Amino acid sequence: MEDFHSAGYRKDPRTQQVVGLFGIFDGHGGPNAADYVRCNLFTNMMQSQKFVSDLPGCVAEAYEVTDAQYLKQDATAGRDDGCTAVTAVLVGQRLLVANVGDSRAVLSRGGRAVALSVDHKPNVKEERTRIESAGGVVVWAGTWRVGGVLAVSRAFGDRPLKKFVVPTPAMMDENLTAEDEFLLLASDGLWDVMSNQEAVTLIRDIKDPEQAAKKITEEALGRGSNDNISCVVILFQR
Ligand SMILES: *[C@@H]1O[C@H](CO)[C@@H](O)[C@H](O)[C@H]1NC(C)=O
Ligand SMILES: *[C@@H]1O[C@H](CO)[C@@H](O)[C@H](O)[C@H]1NC(C)=O
Repeated sequence: MEDFHSAGYRKDPRTQQVVGLFGIFDGHGGPNAADYVRCNLFTNMMQSQKFVSDLPGCVAEAYEVTDAQYLKQDATAGRDDGCTAVTAVLVGQRLLVANVGDSRAVLSRGGRAVALSVDHKPNVKEERTRIESAGGVVVWAGTWRVGGVLAVSRAFGDRPLKKFVVPTPAMMDENLTAEDEFLLLASDGLWDVMSNQEAVTLIRDIKDPEQAAKKITEEALGRGSNDNISCVVILFQR
């Protein structure tokens, strides 16, 4: 199992504000990066001077800092694995979603699936241009891969490809409204076999988020997904 997740609330010691912190981290080449990022990313976020006055700034900074820390401690261990991340920070009605790689965040807005993440694939024009400008190549090997190796174009870790595989997150800043029902975070093991809308429709009537998460993973397994599947369902009180 190379997927890790995190879900919970923490109190900001400076403002006493309670903050919801949720994430899915899908490892490749080993579980070390995913485990490291799960344990350190949110702590780095909350320790930033920008928390929560500049939420996007502090999230972007925490992604960069956590990646640099991981690479540093990992160099001595002689490892070079990596991971994706999709994270959601909930402060009151404000929801900040960030991601690198192909784990996704999908919001149910009145039953309509709204994508709050971007799949970082090496064949996307903007990503390919960025990789090639840095001296890298995108090669077809079963799917499009950075250097013929990695099927995502942004990630934590991945030391040998670091010039091309950056930890710079895509971010979406939302104010939740009365129409917003739940947020689903999941690794690509789910999205390989299910569209965003299918996932939302499948669990919309389930009132217990844990049951909803179980239902969706069972459905993905039933559809023959052969990758690890992890998901977090965050149900909003209305
Ligand atoms: C997770 O994926 C790995 C690699 O594909 C596989 O060997 C392992 O059996 C999977 N684990 C679970 C719990 O699905
Ligand atoms: C969310 O609401 C705040 C306060 O009303 C506003 O300043 C901000 O621009 C809104 N953000 C978005 C993304 O709509």
